[in-house]
Amino acid sequence: MKILGIETSCDETAAAVVEDGANIVSNVVASQVDIHRRYGGIVPEVASRQHLITVLPVLDSAMAEAKASWRDIGAVAVTVGPGLAGSLLVGVNVAKATAMAHGLPLIGVNHLEAHIYANWLNKDKPEFPCLCLIVSGGHSDLVLMRGHGQFEKLGRTRDDAAGEAFDKAARILGLGYPGGPAIEKAAIGSTPSFSLPRAWLKGSDDFSFSGLKTAVLHLVRDNDFSDPARVAGAAASFQQAVVDVLTAKTIQAAERLGVKQILLSGGVAANKALCDSFTSNSPVPVHIPPPGLCTDNAAMVAACGYYHYQLGKLDGFDVDVVPSLSLG
Ligand code: KG4
Ligand code: ZN
Repeated sequence: MKILGIETSCDETAAAVVEDGANIVSNVVASQVDIHRRYGGIVPEVASRQHLITVLPVLDSAMAEAKASWRDIGAVAVTVGPGLAGSLLVGVNVAKATAMAHGLPLIGVNHLEAHIYANWLNKDKPEFPCLCLIVSGGHSDLVLMRGHGQFEKLGRTRDDAAGEAFDKAARILGLGYPGGPAIEKAAIGSTPSFSLPRAWLKGSDDFSFSGLKTAVLHLVRDNDFSDPARVAGAAASFQQAVVDVLTAKTIQAAERLGVKQILLSGGVAANKALCDSFTSNSPVPVHIPPPGLCTDNAAMVAACGYYHYQLGKLDGFDVDVVPSLSLG
């Protein structure tokens, strides 16, 4: 069964066709990053207007790339939240109109759940129970998954999300936007040369990254950072601190819960240092989507929609956006 996925929760306009929740037939992503770069971050009003301009061409491209006619599509899945209200509304209304025009079932999907399902876009399927770490621009969630559609949130960020911390630290270091890829690039070939704090929050599965961000701010304020090598050293030190905390806390929880596997997802999971740390330290197999499926895309929405469909979880045309939707 082929599902059309639509994703507009933040600053990527995306559409994809995925067969049986696993095989990507087409996957089109139009990024707005160049538009928002000049503001140093996402401007919600600009994002929703840009989605309006891009969404139909992106949808057409996804159908053309899939060489699919509407008769080949079994359902339309769309992100309903969490995300920016104005951005979500564009995708949800396009999905409703498309499903209605072609007589297709409509499936509203949680964006965080969709990030996890990027791990099913693969021949090698994850095994339950598994522990999912979602690290994106808005979330750092640790979620226990016992079966399809069964999520138990164990930990969350108490302040900045991991991706948000990367973006803010990059801005402080003058490395530009988006910060995750900028810090990763700057850190290549550099060793962590500054001592930065790690918030372990012992006894809790929560995370905290705002202290680390403030430490970078103080480091830059109190020292001369005109030498690019020092900036690279600070970037490597920051990245190492985030990687250490995410890896150690997730593995501790995995051992405590006796899960079979660990699943990474979200934009920060595109970070190679994080992936290497997990694969070399985890006692259980680790699933990590390829970088293009870690960041926002619609293939993960279609994959997630497939499992909703299997569970009979369809939505009516009254489905609405839920900007603060959480998981579990
Ligand atoms: O999942 P995503 O594309 O969008 C949200 O749902 O938020 O995640 C975007 C976040 C941004 O904060 C970005 O800086 C971060 O993921 N990111 C990375 C990398 N690529 C994207 N962080 C660290 N290393 C990367 N390579
Ligand atoms: Zn996302």
